[in-house]
Amino acid sequence: MGTVIDNAMLEAILAEVTPLIGQGRVADYIPALACVDGAKLGIAISTVDGQHYCAGDARERFSIQSISKVLSLVVAMNHYQEEEIWQRVGKDPSGQPFNSLLQLEIEQGKPRNPFINAGALVVCDMLQSRLSAPRQRMLEIIRKLSGVGDIAYDAVVARSEFDHSARNAAIAWLMKSFGNFHNDVATVLQNYFHYCALKMSCSELAQTFLFLANQGRSPRHEQAIITPLQSRQVNALMATCGMYQNAGEFAWRVGLPAKSGVGGGIVAIVPHEMAIAVWSPQLDEAGNSLAGIAVLERLTQRLGRSVF
Ligand code: DON
Repeated sequence: MGTVIDNAMLEAILAEVTPLIGQGRVADYIPALACVDGAKLGIAISTVDGQHYCAGDARERFSIQSISKVLSLVVAMNHYQEEEIWQRVGKDPSGQPFNSLLQLEIEQGKPRNPFINAGALVVCDMLQSRLSAPRQRMLEIIRKLSGVGDIAYDAVVARSEFDHSARNAAIAWLMKSFGNFHNDVATVLQNYFHYCALKMSCSELAQTFLFLANQGRSPRHEQAIITPLQSRQVNALMATCGMYQNAGEFAWRVGLPAKSGVGGGIVAIVPHEMAIAVWSPQLDEAGNSLAGIAVLERLTQRLGRSVF
């Protein structure tokens, strides 16, 4: 196993990375996110054998944003056959910003993968077709996985996103023009924005995502969330598409499947061992947490972990 994890080691890594605070920028294209304190920094780790470690602002809730795209795909996997999903959305990295329209026009309305905005919107459209209450269902799953009953949507963030939804609406309408979007655009956008506006802490995220380190089954529950094969597939998508146009750079520096959000959170998976969540709201040019990546880089180096 290599180096042993403890809270003091995590505190030491956060202290090393603190000088980077100030180099990134808090997302401001969603006004409700612009007022978050850019100096926040936290990390939490949950292991498949039941350990939990925390440091810094690990227990403070923030907007999970695109981290939710992994969970919406998992819910879709519960309600659709494999080929039904992948005929509507691809499995390849886009190499483009997460909210780009460019490729979507060229590739006739089929998004490259479920972790860019276009792909997540198609997934939300699929959930709208088969679930009577997609928002309630998401809360039920997250509350069950995390073991925390009061996880909820931040109505102010969801509203702010809806009020500034021109680009996401354009993406949805473009896909509709190609026949790859079936439901009312405003209804699906509302669900998508609510998923992005989930408020969770690093501690809750690490616990929630542990099923991806444990072949699709949360160690706390008997029933699997997805099959071992699906879990492997989701991890593969995170490794190749989870950090947008910087997926290669992130693989080079950190070497783990991961998914970021513009709230500054990143969830990373060490298969068979642990789920890690970090939070630092200031972002790099690609919209990934600048200090968060540095924390993960130092952690994986100290632990000697990588999937490569
Ligand atoms: O739709 C959006 O643009 C945001 N709600 C989510 C974007 C996001 O988190 C991309 N991640 N880095």
